[in-house]
Amino acid sequence: MQAVANPIAERISSISVSSTLKVSADAEKLRAEGVDVVDFGAGEPDFPTPDNIKQAAVRALEQNFTKYTSAAGIAELRKAVCERHAQDFGTSYQPSECIITVGGKHAIFNITQAVLNPGDEVVIPVPYWVTYKDVVNYTGARCVFVDTDEDQGFALTASMLEPHLTARTKMVIVNSPCNPSGALVERGEFEKIYRLTSERGIYLMTDECYCKFLYDSQPFSIASLAGAKETVLVAGSLSKTYAMTGWRIGFGLVPAPLAGAMLKLQSHSTSNPTSIAQKAAVEALRGPQDSVGAMLAEYRRRRDFVIKRLRDIPGVTCAEPRGAFYAYPNVGIALRQKGIQTAQQFCERLLAEAHVAAVPGEAFGTSRHIRISYAASMNDLQRGLDRIHQFVVKYS
Ligand SMILES: Cc1ncc(COP(=O)(O)O)c(C=O)c1O
Repeated sequence: MQAVANPIAERISSISVSSTLKVSADAEKLRAEGVDVVDFGAGEPDFPTPDNIKQAAVRALEQNFTKYTSAAGIAELRKAVCERHAQDFGTSYQPSECIITVGGKHAIFNITQAVLNPGDEVVIPVPYWVTYKDVVNYTGARCVFVDTDEDQGFALTASMLEPHLTARTKMVIVNSPCNPSGALVERGEFEKIYRLTSERGIYLMTDECYCKFLYDSQPFSIASLAGAKETVLVAGSLSKTYAMTGWRIGFGLVPAPLAGAMLKLQSHSTSNPTSIAQKAAVEALRGPQDSVGAMLAEYRRRRDFVIKRLRDIPGVTCAEPRGAFYAYPNVGIALRQKGIQTAQQFCERLLAEAHVAAVPGEAFGTSRHIRISYAASMNDLQRGLDRIHQFVVKYS
């Protein structure tokens, strides 16, 4: 038998397995050995999907809504996405500018595939959500990273961005509130960023995955500015807003020709997102919205608890998250202690010795932080933070 030459395509070597998924897999392995692990790695709501949404899926099953749908998603759902976005943010998208995807990640993947060419530059603020770097690399475009300021809560500003824009810049990615830092780009600053990009003909991709989870300000979408629809690309997701991570429903709100380009790709890969999940998504968007507010109130309570507990740990500092459900403490001082060189090593030891799973900052482009997801029960937050405190004190 002759071995296959170059068995794996070269473009696959430009990406790696999502580090957040790897942390969860490591935690799972330990748990399978009978260890009591507190998992702060997973970025997903610990709430169940609201009952009205589940019932809509049950009805879809009972009505045998189990066949292929249009690859771009059912008309009813595309309309519901546009209407909810209009109601929440004052935008004016039409269904022809909306495509339903298999989760928000898929929207981001298809947008980047559909607009980027090798050699293009994409500006990404640091810290960034892991996936941006890999999906951009996969297109052959180049990531240009912009450092933000921890003392300013990691929020991107137009003046930080401007020096990084070149004739090759095709896209800027903004995720506000941000995974992993919880940073919020205030409306006025976001408008400046929009103006900088639009006047140069650069796409501004706004990842609105956590847009409803803001603690001290009202949600807004930069796509609501007059004329913004031409260069602003919205990547949306129902995963976190409605505790629907497993249902895999996301969407893109983009210029109609780009929706068409994404559809081409989708029609040869996933085809339609799951039919019954689409019906559930219609109910999520059109039904009562009170579960979103209830989850936000609970996340706020947990955020206050987590930040206080982290700041009580000697040598640990933590910027205040203004949205989403992550804390991004700086454990630099603890890292400098004997034997621990990197956040990666810190997290490996934290898992092995204190049985707490957290994601190392290297996954998000920084080396002195760890990401803690507080989408976990108060009981777990209590136990996990006790363990982290003891672990750090042990090395001080
Ligand atoms: C910043 C950000 N964007 C997009 C997503 C995509 O979520 P999903 O593919 O589950 O809809 C996530 C998920 O963790 C995220 O953190």
